[in-house]
Amino acid sequence: MKIWEIDTTEADWQRRLREPASRIESGGLVAFPTETVYGLGANALNDQAVRRVFAAKGRPADNPLIVHIASRSSLADVVADTSGIPESATKLMDAFWPGPLTLILPAHPRIAASVRPGMTTIGVRIPAHPVALELIRRARCPVAAPSANSSGRPSPTNAEAVVADLDRLIDGVVDGGACDVGLESTVVAVQNDGGVVYRPGWITVEELARVAAIPFRLDAHLTDGVAAVNSPGMKYRHYAPDAAVSVWWGEDSQRIFDALRAHLAGRPDAQPSYIAPAHFPDLPGAVWRWSPSADESYVEALSRELYHLLRQGDKAASTDILVVGVAPEGKALALMNRLEKASEGRLYRV
Ligand code: TXA
Ligand code: MG
Repeated sequence: MKIWEIDTTEADWQRRLREPASRIESGGLVAFPTETVYGLGANALNDQAVRRVFAAKGRPADNPLIVHIASRSSLADVVADTSGIPESATKLMDAFWPGPLTLILPAHPRIAASVRPGMTTIGVRIPAHPVALELIRRARCPVAAPSANSSGRPSPTNAEAVVADLDRLIDGVVDGGACDVGLESTVVAVQNDGGVVYRPGWITVEELARVAAIPFRLDAHLTDGVAAVNSPGMKYRHYAPDAAVSVWWGEDSQRIFDALRAHLAGRPDAQPSYIAPAHFPDLPGAVWRWSPSADESYVEALSRELYHLLRQGDKAASTDILVVGVAPEGKALALMNRLEKASEGRLYRV
């Protein structure tokens, strides 16, 4: 597959997007960077192209895709009735677009049926990444794009991860470097009197409620494992590497440390990797440590690096990836949600 390297500090970088954009427009599949993760883009008006996205990813057919647009003026091309958009949703767009927020809205009938299998709605977002925006503009169509990984694997946060999963299955990847946020967008549905978060993300429940001036709740599947799922993507095994991920969190580092040690006790053949903050007791074996800096917390740094670290763990043939987690609040709710899925529920409060 083709790799288009883009350096936005070079003059004329936009012109290099001409070919990948025309591939998307004419029905091809091209992966591209966004501020969250890499997406696998297809023309959202072309049902055949969108179906090839599902095939390339091995994605269950009932899991709808997010439609990406480059500006608010394109909203009327993808949403059924823009005059019916609740004011609370408009406030969220004003505050967070371009950005890592996906809004569920009634679908325009011209959006390919496979984008929204059996549903009358679509997820829409304007990504905050200059390369993504320029690519969508040049493609001259709304771009349906799930994360550009094989279904069930960690989302890709750099072009190398896209190649590792999808080489020979797609036309190419626009390489714009590593993603800033590292976790997928917040997915929400809103009415004028309240909103529902289907997938937590970088934009927090508190920020949503404050900006839209309505109460928000987490969808039942996020609080109750057996509840009906309204956003199909959240029911599948997700974000998981081959190694067994386990997560511990709590106030007391020593207790977390003891729990990690107990977990490995009696398993001399285990090849563990660790993800831990700087101020944590010494751990034997492969360790990824984050030293929080003045302008970046452990949560921010780990969110950005998590999927890359999970993939690295597989490359290093780790049997176990042991993660020091954090309280699931604010931005950390998204991080812990992904870790819960990657660990298939092996997430412990100590
Ligand atoms: O940050 C992101 O959102 C990335 C980048 C590429 O934009 N995309 C992404 O797409 O994560 P994907 O396909 O991996 O996740 C889309 C999520 C799924 O959980 C899906 O169920 C939900 O959005 N979704 C999409 N359309 C929906 C709809 N009409 N109703 C409810 N949930 C929807
Ligand atoms: Mg995904």
